[in-house]
Amino acid sequence: MKLSGALVFALVAVQAAVLLSAVPSAQASELQVGYYSKKCKGLENVVKWHVVKALKANRRTGAALVRLLFHDCFVRGCDGSVLLDKSYDNPNPEKNAPVNIGLAAFDLLEEIKAAVEDRCPGVVSCSDILIFAARDAASALSNGHVHFDVPAGRLDGFVSKAEEAQAELPDSTDDVEKLIANFARKNFTVEELVILSGAHSIGQGHCSSFTGRLSEPADQITPAYRELLKYKCSSGSNPPVVNNVRDEDYNTVGRFMPGFVSRLRKVPDFLDNSYYHNNLAKIVTFHSDWTLLTQKEALGHVHEYADNGTLWDEDFSDSLVKLSKLPMPAGSKGEIRKKCSISNHRLY
Ligand code: HEM
Ligand SMILES: *[C@@H]1O[C@H](CO)[C@@H](O)[C@H](O)[C@H]1NC(C)=O
Ligand SMILES: *[C@@H]1O[C@H](CO)[C@@H](O)[C@H](O)[C@H]1NC(C)=O
Repeated sequence: MKLSGALVFALVAVQAAVLLSAVPSAQASELQVGYYSKKCKGLENVVKWHVVKALKANRRTGAALVRLLFHDCFVRGCDGSVLLDKSYDNPNPEKNAPVNIGLAAFDLLEEIKAAVEDRCPGVVSCSDILIFAARDAASALSNGHVHFDVPAGRLDGFVSKAEEAQAELPDSTDDVEKLIANFARKNFTVEELVILSGAHSIGQGHCSSFTGRLSEPADQITPAYRELLKYKCSSGSNPPVVNNVRDEDYNTVGRFMPGFVSRLRKVPDFLDNSYYHNNLAKIVTFHSDWTLLTQKEALGHVHEYADNGTLWDEDFSDSLVKLSKLPMPAGSKGEIRKKCSISNHRLY
């Protein structure tokens, strides 16, 4: 096929416009609470409406949103890089990284983005929508105990590489010193590592994420819980298992940990400090959870948050805000994506 001169000219013009619309990313200090109050009235209510609706249909989606905030912000800052699909010029995006196994809620974010584009076209970034949605999920799953204002004004990035996600994000087999070093690279303290790990009171993990746990000794994992996990993992190939044993099904718990059935919850995925109690009792899924007990300062904080749930609610809220401010690498450019899974220039 031969393109007419006019068409070629039009295409070049569109490309130039796209390049011109890529602007330098804001610094974290420029993020503002209420950033969209004039630019897109009612935005935060729109996001919240969709999140609440989605959680009513499937409460598990809330955990997916909270994890997405972490996985987006830890890699190139909070720039929506985790949301990009693979494309011709980027065959291996963050989504492909093994460490990103089980990420979900992408469809929900795309649904919210579409609703927001209808209301205020070209104004609200996907990276901001992700943070608002994760905030609303954390609030809903904690009955409002986890709550915070979201500073906004982020841009969506152009770069998304699986190798980068794999290198930056912690692994479930890491020991405490490695986790501490990993979080320190993003200016997070040992205390904040412990606070943020408390997010594992909700959601699920695939058996491949805790294979090693199934043969750890009794001082690292309660044998009855180890047997429960083995049993769960024996059904199907690499099934997901709930992170918090209190969300487990009645029959399984009755069989392996009968003393625990009274603690089972009717409503799963309640975001609270139960992770610290589970951890001290050695009934947590990941090695990276258990290993927090092996370092003095971290262990002290595990006790601190087991003892005071209100303190955890508050400190977890603050730590999520801090995560949400992680900036893109210096000099990065950004845009307001039209669709969260695709950079704008790929839409033409
Ligand atoms: C400290 C290092 C951390 C490690 C090694 C880690 C590792 C993991 C792994 C392996 C899974 C299960 C993935 C799967 O197999 O499907 C998971 C799930 C999850 N993680 Fe973490 N994580 C860490 C910190 C965090 C932080 C900081 C947050 C958020 C503040 C978080 C929130 C979650 C949530 C909510 C889930 C459940 C997701 C769902 O059910 O869809 N994690 N994590
Ligand atoms: C951590 O803090 C240092 C010193 O203030 C700063 O230069 C660096 O950019 C920060 N790193 C991140 C990932 O925020
Ligand atoms: C728990 O933490 C809250 C919030 O910081 C604080 O007000 C309260 O005094 C603490 N409770 C105990 C028993 O230490």
